[in-house]
Amino acid sequence: MSAQFPVARPRRLRRTPALRRMVAETRLAPADLVLPMFVKEGIAEPQPVASMPGVFQHTRDSLRKAAHEAAEAGVGGIILFGIPAVKDGTGSAADDPDGIVQLALRDLASDLGDAAVVMTDLCLDEYTDHGHCGIVTGAGEIENDATLERYASIAVAQAEAGSAVVGPSGMMDGQVAAIRRALDTAGFADTAILGYSVKYASAYYGPFRDAAECAPQFGDRSTHQQDPANADESLREVFLDLDEGADMVMVKPAGAYLDIVRRVRDAVDVPVAAYQVSGEYAMIEAAAEKGWIDRDRTIMESLTSIRRAGADIVLTYWATEAARRLS
Ligand code: PBG
Repeated sequence: MSAQFPVARPRRLRRTPALRRMVAETRLAPADLVLPMFVKEGIAEPQPVASMPGVFQHTRDSLRKAAHEAAEAGVGGIILFGIPAVKDGTGSAADDPDGIVQLALRDLASDLGDAAVVMTDLCLDEYTDHGHCGIVTGAGEIENDATLERYASIAVAQAEAGSAVVGPSGMMDGQVAAIRRALDTAGFADTAILGYSVKYASAYYGPFRDAAECAPQFGDRSTHQQDPANADESLREVFLDLDEGADMVMVKPAGAYLDIVRRVRDAVDVPVAAYQVSGEYAMIEAAAEKGWIDRDRTIMESLTSIRRAGADIVLTYWATEAARRLS
């Protein structure tokens, strides 16, 4: 029996690598990638993070070296997290001009210049002794508005030390407005805000809490981070952040929330970032170590999928490695 004519043959365009490359709908480039980095006060050598093979808590020196390598690979930017030697109830190291993040920021801002964007995570959980993202009341609740005052002060300290983009990740209501106002008042009208607008209360952050030493000492983050069951709520969060002055918005985690990345991409006209978080990284590394998946292919597939879902910018712990592979 002869086939019906004309026969649709999608396989024609998949026949050779050159054809596949030419017709690819999604492209990944080094500049799309942002590397999250950790710098820790009071260590003499970089410390490997057990649950994230290949990721380190850096010294100031090793951070400079790794940031230089990332920039040389062509990444779009780096986003810095700090781990202070001493934590307290209000996270006072977070906005100390001589705190570890501010010191490291000054190093990177002068080292990197315009080679890559130097950004900062803006939160309190790495700095508080209770591990929460805000000021905690006697009853163990996180006080929204008292926390905003802390975030405003941290934003100014980070901008002063050279952060080009601050990324508030604490999910307090009104945080973008409070930070925008503080930055403008202090003369940092040009410092941009990347809102972690859509941030779920996710089990995928597990390994990060080792890396940043910020596991909550009691309770969890589900009174401020979003319920994984909700999708429409993400658009409300995004529009609030844009109204408050966010320049870019982020969805986090990425892999389990690609539907949300797509909905946000379709709803806004600002750059959309997605954060491939520590648990996504750890799962692929662990399965690859067991020989159960092809590590390199899985990494590139995961990043391509996040871009295909609509993210312009992907935060990933593989940024340097993937950028090298792409260039
Ligand atoms: C909060 C913050 C977290 C992550 C980034 N910023 C942890 C949390 O909300 O518990 C997680 C990132 C990751 O898992 O890779 N400062």
